[in-house]
Amino acid sequence: MLEQLHQLKERALSELQGLSSVDALEKWRVAYLGRKGALTNILRSVGQLPVQERPTVGQEANLVKLALKQAYNEKAEAFKREETLRLLEQEHIDVTLPGRPVQPGYLHVSTQTLREIYAIFAQMGFQVLETPEVETDVNNFQLLNIPPYHPARDMWSTFYTTHEGVLLRTHTSPGQIRAMRMYCPETIRLLLPGKCYRYEAVTARSESMFYQVEGLAVGKHVTMGDLKGVLISFARQMFGADRRVRFRCSYFPFTEPSVEVDMDCIICGGEGCRVCKHTGWVEILGAGMVHPQVLRNGGYDPTVYTGFAFGLGPERIAMLKYRIDDIRYFFGNDLRFLHQFA
Ligand code: DAH
Repeated sequence: MLEQLHQLKERALSELQGLSSVDALEKWRVAYLGRKGALTNILRSVGQLPVQERPTVGQEANLVKLALKQAYNEKAEAFKREETLRLLEQEHIDVTLPGRPVQPGYLHVSTQTLREIYAIFAQMGFQVLETPEVETDVNNFQLLNIPPYHPARDMWSTFYTTHEGVLLRTHTSPGQIRAMRMYCPETIRLLLPGKCYRYEAVTARSESMFYQVEGLAVGKHVTMGDLKGVLISFARQMFGADRRVRFRCSYFPFTEPSVEVDMDCIICGGEGCRVCKHTGWVEILGAGMVHPQVLRNGGYDPTVYTGFAFGLGPERIAMLKYRIDDIRYFFGNDLRFLHQFA
């Protein structure tokens, strides 16, 4: 029996030496020290030995058990250490490496264009005033000479809220009413920028949301000549000193007279191309002298005061400037487009 114990110990220890995985170690433990393991079997059979042999064999068996347990613990420790070292090696971080740079943000192309527009008009004394995007029917239409039955409403169809008479503005022109009521009877030289909304088919040329910049000047001696001078100056600062500008008769309910302003095509220089539809001219904005009734609606006496106004689309300006052929790129959130303006 003692011999058997000795052999068991030798075999177990030499097998333990050769183990190379935690799984194998666990199998070894079950085989030798487990409840049905070899050593337990021997310990169990001690009871069947002659009485005088029991103490020696029992004692020896316990010593072997102790030795195997200790050897097992050491091996388990060694595996654990190895695993830790392996993880350290594998997940090793070089703390001396420079960090990944955080990409600084940049302004959206519409915002960049807006700021260019502000800078140009600022030199001519125009300040920026923001007015609400959610407007009343009264400001967006009625006080701009567009009563409920007026056919011009078809051109400016929008999104209506569940509040009767409250809508998303279709243009920045209602800002004229707010600005005049805010500043009357002072003279005014303002830009009113912001988002506008239209309920219409989205195409390469029209979006349901876009920006506008409204210009408004009101004073005692404001003339059509001032309007022309300001807009020609703007076109030349924005698109180049030798730009030619043309004023075409037009109609807006809130201006009298009204004009549409064209610029010689910057793509072909007036020769005629796809962008200018072979006319040599591209439309850049609408403008006019503020209608006497609109002045009155703003609180100004039209026999004393006059004013001019204009409305331009910064996306349109950017499209011309950077030769972008589809307005849907602006708010499509495609980084391949936006990154080009970083
Ligand atoms: N509100 C017009 C539009 O959205 C643009 C416009 C035209 C504004 C003439 C003006 C103006 O101030 O005088 O189509």
